[in-house]
This record gives sequence, structure tokens and C-alpha cells, in this order.
Amino acid sequence: MHADSKAPSVRFFDGFSLPIRKTRVCIAMKHDELSRREFVRTATAGAGAIASLAGGAGLALADAADKPAALGGTPAHQGAWASWPQWDQAWEPQILEVLRSGVWSPAGNDEGPVGDFEKAYAQALGANDCVATSSGTAALLTALAAVGVEAGDEVIVSPYTFIATYNAVLAHHALPVFADTDPATLTMDPASIESRITDRTRAIIPVHIYGMPCDMDAINTIAQKHNLAVVEDACQAWLAEYKGKKCGTLGDLGCFSFQNSKHIPSGEGGAVTGVKQPLLDRARSYHDCGRAFGAYEGRGNFSRGLNYRMTHYQGAMLHQQIAKLISDTKRRQENGDRLTAGLREIPGIEPVRLPENSRAVWHLYAFRYNPEAFSGMPRIKFMRALNREGVPCSSGYAQQYFDGLLDEALNSRGFQRLFSAERVKSYRDSLHELKGNKQVCETTVAVFQTLLLGTERDVDDIVEAVRRIQAHSASLA
Ligand SMILES: Cc1ncc(COP(=O)(O)O)c(C=O)c1O
Repeated sequence: MHADSKAPSVRFFDGFSLPIRKTRVCIAMKHDELSRREFVRTATAGAGAIASLAGGAGLALADAADKPAALGGTPAHQGAWASWPQWDQAWEPQILEVLRSGVWSPAGNDEGPVGDFEKAYAQALGANDCVATSSGTAALLTALAAVGVEAGDEVIVSPYTFIATYNAVLAHHALPVFADTDPATLTMDPASIESRITDRTRAIIPVHIYGMPCDMDAINTIAQKHNLAVVEDACQAWLAEYKGKKCGTLGDLGCFSFQNSKHIPSGEGGAVTGVKQPLLDRARSYHDCGRAFGAYEGRGNFSRGLNYRMTHYQGAMLHQQIAKLISDTKRRQENGDRLTAGLREIPGIEPVRLPENSRAVWHLYAFRYNPEAFSGMPRIKFMRALNREGVPCSSGYAQQYFDGLLDEALNSRGFQRLFSAERVKSYRDSLHELKGNKQVCETTVAVFQTLLLGTERDVDDIVEAVRRIQAHSASLA
């Protein structure tokens, strides 16, 4: 596997800025880094042994080993984390083959890398079909069109998500109405949905944020009761599972992103998946300029639609990564379980609760931070200290509904025609009722997926870093 160690920095497009320490290193170098760390560990252990022989002076040495890097100690994690994205030389011939074929687009042709990827990804998910798109945003736009979201409709959305989820609804000239976030799960709180349904509500978009499945049974039950469509935003949830089924097969349609930072990346790219063939046929038609397709074949003419097709270059990249996605996911899940077990033992750190019988895939691994258990240390100081320990972290999403995007839409000519002043006022007021989401935005700390691609010792370093910061929080706060 290769990673571009010359690239200036990792950029994440789903709303995170990950500080600060260098994370981009060629995977091939990792072994050297590990053995160097091994050396440091051995040296530290040796110092501890000498310390215990030497009585009081020994205690001082042991203390030094435990000291947080922010207080001059040695960072809990030495060396680099896995770099992202990664690629394999073995993938190159197929990309070159696309180039030399001169057939770079799947337009009018079911055969080729895009079709191969669609079949393989649908199979990996247990979906009926997969419609590959040019991005996750394009997948959301396509899915919303396929379930019939139109101008003036309302769509219930999770507020704790990348901004593209909001924007896809706005682009259809519909109103994104936010359900609250459950602070225990970081996903849509089903108990907050029904009070937000109006006679204009057409669909619900649960977001499996950071790769953590939403409580889909509860959401689907409400949707069925009110005759609403469910479009899963599974853009961060490749292979995540809920009660034995994969995310992207649990609602009416599911949407994925294959953007550069994602677990299966092709630069840009996306997919619409599901098990309901007529909706999938409508999605295929919509993403292909509205061409007649499947259940829509009989019409012969174009329907409304846009060009959101994926290129064969992207298809060739993605088809070759499915095996890697499966093995990387297993590694992240094993390491995620270990991290949860370790962090759970630390007072004031609350790992996320997943729905019963579900598996997250950890695009980010998030936990909630309670400063009270850390001598009142504000989250930002905790994060800085964690970063100094060699553990880059992010505070996740903020309360983006106050950031101006919604005002821009609501004040626009089109939205003013579509929504009454009374509705806009009650909508604005409702943004202040998102208490659970506010809490989540203010207390979450998350580490990026690459930190779960290392060894068990790497994971233990993260736990050790948090433990140390807590032990010395009185001096750090
Ligand atoms: C939750 C979520 N929804 C939607 C998107 C949009 O996907 P894309 O960036 O591929 O358009 C992303 C991607 O970053 C995402 O993380």
C-alpha cells in the first residue's frame, strides 16, 4: 500500500479540521516507526524497573514516564498514524485500461468498471441494486428526487451531520427540519421526530454519522405511520450493520460517499442503494439525465433528471477496493471495541451507545467528554493536551444551523414564495429547541478512522493519553 507522503496535509471535506501533528506517512515506513516506538517503550519500562529498585528516586522517574507531554513528558504515542488515502500498485493496470479504452463514461453502456462496481457493492451490502453517482451529494439529490421530494416540502433531517445533508434538501427547495440528536448515540433521536411532522413533511433523512447506525426500527415505524419516505444518509457508513442488515438497505433508499477521505475513496464519488427496485430504477433514471429505465422504460421519454453519472476511472478505483474495505472495516471494528473498553474505564469519558445488535464502522471514533472529571479542564484544552500526546483529534460538528446557510435560503426569493412568514418564524424558533444536539456539539471529541488502523498498542496509547491527562488534569486545567 502506498500513501502520498509528499502531499502537504490531509484535508477532510466533511466538516472537520484535524490538527496538527503530521499524520501522512507512507505505510511502508510504519514498521520503522513501530520499532522505534518499541525501543522507547522498552527504554521506559527499563527506567521503571530501575526506578522501583532505587526507591524514592525511582518514584520520580516513574512519575516522569506518566507525565503528560503538555507538562514536558514523553508523548503517549510516538510516531505517525496510518496515512490516508492508501492505494495499491496492483490497481494501476485497470485504471490504465480505462484510459486506453477511450470509454471513460458509462453513458449508454451497462458494461465496464462502473457496472462491475455497482454489482459488487450491491452484493457487499445485500442491496437489490446500486446506482453509482458522481458524489455523495449527487446521491442524496438523486434519492430525494426519487422519493418525490419537491419544492415547498419539508424533510426531517439529523442536524449532526456534514453540511451536504442540509444542502441537498435546500437544493430541492425543501425545508430541512431538524430532529434532535440523542446525546447517548449522536444520531437522530426518534422520540423527537413526530412533533416535527407537518402536512408538508415528505421524508426523513437519518444520518449514520461517523459510521454509527441510527435506530432504524423506530424511525421506520414513524415513517410508515405518517406515510413518509426514509432516505438514509450512509455517506460515512460503508458496511455498518443494524440488526443483521447493512446501512443503505434499511430505509427506502440509502446514499454513500466515496470522497477522498472516505473508507472507500475514489477522489469523488457516491452511490444510491436500496432494496426497493422501482425507487432504484427512478434513481437510475434521474442520475442519467432522466433517461427511461427499468420500471420507467415503458415511457420511452425522458423524465426530470440530471447528469450525476460516475466515470469509469472512479468505478475502476472503487471496484478494486472492496476487499480492502472489508478487511479495513474488520480492523477498525476490533480496534474500536478495544478503545471503547479502555475509555469506558475512565471517569468523565462516555463512549457512544450503539443500537442493540449493530456494528459501527468508525469513520470517526467519537466519545463525550465531561470536564468535571478533569478538574474542570475545558474541552479545547483537553483536545490540545491529547494532540500533544500524539493523538490528533477533532471536536466534530458544530451547531451549523446558526451559521448563516439557513438564513441565506430562508431569505431567498424562492423560499419566501414557498414558505409563509409564520412557518419561517416557527421554524427559526425550533432551532433553539435542539438541546440534545447542542450538548453533543459542545462535548464531543473524535479521532479519525486512521487511528483505528494500527495495532492494539496504538489503541492502548490513546487510552493511556487520556488517562494521563486526567491524572494530571489539576495542573493542566
Ligand atoms: C454525512 C455526509 N453526508 C453527505 C456527504 C456528501 O458527500 P460528498 O462529499 O461525496 O458529496 C458527506 C461527505 O462528506 C457526508 O459525510
